[in-house]
Amino acid sequence: MANPKSHLFSLSFLLLLLLHFSTVSYAQTLFIFGDGLYDAGNKQFVSSNRVDASFPPYGITLGEATGRWSDGRIVPDYLASFMGIPQIPPILRATADFSHGANFAIADATVLGSPPESMTLSQQVKKFSENKNKWTVQARSEAIYLFYIGSDDYLNYAKNHPNPSEDQKQAFVDQVISAIETELKVIYGSGGRKFAFQNLAPLGCLPAVKQANGNVQECVKLPSEMASLHNKKLLQLLVELSRKLSGFQYSFYDFFSSIQNRVIKSKTYTFETGLAACCGTGSVNGSDCSTNNVCAKPEDYLFFDGKHLTQEGNLQVGHLIWGSDPEVIGPNNLRELLVLPLDVTVILADIQEAMAAVRPRQIKIESLYDIKMESEMQNQWLYQVDEASSFLI
Ligand SMILES: *[C@@H]1O[C@H](CO)[C@@H](O)[C@H](O)[C@H]1NC(C)=O
Repeated sequence: MANPKSHLFSLSFLLLLLLHFSTVSYAQTLFIFGDGLYDAGNKQFVSSNRVDASFPPYGITLGEATGRWSDGRIVPDYLASFMGIPQIPPILRATADFSHGANFAIADATVLGSPPESMTLSQQVKKFSENKNKWTVQARSEAIYLFYIGSDDYLNYAKNHPNPSEDQKQAFVDQVISAIETELKVIYGSGGRKFAFQNLAPLGCLPAVKQANGNVQECVKLPSEMASLHNKKLLQLLVELSRKLSGFQYSFYDFFSSIQNRVIKSKTYTFETGLAACCGTGSVNGSDCSTNNVCAKPEDYLFFDGKHLTQEGNLQVGHLIWGSDPEVIGPNNLRELLVLPLDVTVILADIQEAMAAVRPRQIKIESLYDIKMESEMQNQWLYQVDEASSFLI
């Protein structure tokens, strides 16, 4: 049977199959907005100084430093690969192939203010607008728009306002969310319909933040609390926009709980530790990652440096965004968002339902790792850090 003709036959059969399936059109385009967690190399193009992530030990697991803030791949890399498209290049790389989208994320990005040698969300969206004719109207409306932004807004805020009142906290969160709303509407105006958000991590649990605060056993309360306020408000915004803007679709991933679970019960999720970083100096390796102080097995760590995840952490997050159930990501996971017809809007009955959809509980996908977390414990841990800190020791 192995003659050239039968090969030709099966090849054309395959082509026919491909043609058939290509009439069902999935997004082939991914746009990425955010900070160092999603930066695929943009920072090195605007920086006047050495960019750490452009040198080893960043990239050591892959054998190449690319400007990604990890030992290897980052979340957008995994999502592109699950979508069946090549890795999405940083927009500032002049000679890249942008046919499947562009990555606008850059280390130190914020929503508000004017971060030096970086871009605000609004500047990133402006870059998108300037370049949008690189993609067809259809590609732009079928595309996924992926976001992780706001960490540095709240870390800076907590640094400068150690004791804010409840009203002050909420007012700052409202400012951030309203700036995000403005940018989402700009993208929607350019044809964007499918928005995917990774909500903010419990920022007080980042090794860099704990170390700077001096008490490395406990997560620092204020940054985590700000992140949590932000996450609630962000979900409200997405629910609202899906009601107000026809065809607005979204996916909201509860990264906060994922990190919290992995910090508290690292071993359950295959990590030796979620407290200290693989690379850096100080009590939890929270700062100054260099080739002189990198661990031997990054895959044993959740954090690669004081603020960013290892490739193994990013892989787990990628899987959760792509395919987990509504208790981790809702109302659609990314796989569902991708195939959702453009004229369909999933509108949740009310905000309670939307909140319930992302409530951290025993969850199917997490049970892959055999985790049994009680939500009471998580809530207590979040709101009464002092009493619950024994979980972290
Ligand atoms: C900090 O990093 C070093 C490598 O420089 C590693 O051997 C050590 O285990 C790390 N510290 C902790 C607490 O994990």
